[in-house]
Amino acid sequence: MTQDELKALVGQAALAYVQPGSIVGVGTGSTVNCFIDALATMKDRIAGAISSSEKSTQRLQSHGITVLDSNSVERIPVYIDGADEIDHGGHMIKGGGAALTREKIVADLAERFVCIADESKLVTTLGRFPLPVEVIPMATAQVARRFAALGAERCCARAWSPTTATASST
Ligand code: A5P
Repeated sequence: MTQDELKALVGQAALAYVQPGSIVGVGTGSTVNCFIDALATMKDRIAGAISSSEKSTQRLQSHGITVLDSNSVERIPVYIDGADEIDHGGHMIKGGGAALTREKIVADLAERFVCIADESKLVTTLGRFPLPVEVIPMATAQVARRFAALGAERCCARAWSPTTATASST
């Protein structure tokens, strides 16, 4: 099976964790996109979604799924998101999709976090994937200096917008 076929499978499998009538927490990334496409098949049986990024919001809305403000809920049953790397102990690196902060906010609302990933994400040792760090604009230089002091050689900060912000140091 191709990686895309595997992503589609895990996206479909995640539907089993969606409670009918509930509001679903939705992460970000290509694997989550497969989940969003699968979720569309039951959009009339859920109350809506809380999204972790503009990209996921747009995809959800393109399927006619209502996207709700995270402040409108106290708890949600489940949050579905992907990962960049997962080791055999279940430790994960996440954030490669530049939605780290919003992901954490939505994940914190959820009773349960279901991570969906194809086998390519399973690694023996974490760290091949650059560790994403999300930085608010006013702290960019300060954080870069701290990383430099820790020995980081290159810290690349992507353009910040209210919806996504990320910097990765390698
Ligand atoms: C989003 O910030 C990330 O945590 C993604 O879930 C992660 O990068 C996996 O993305 P893909 O499913 O596109 O590999």
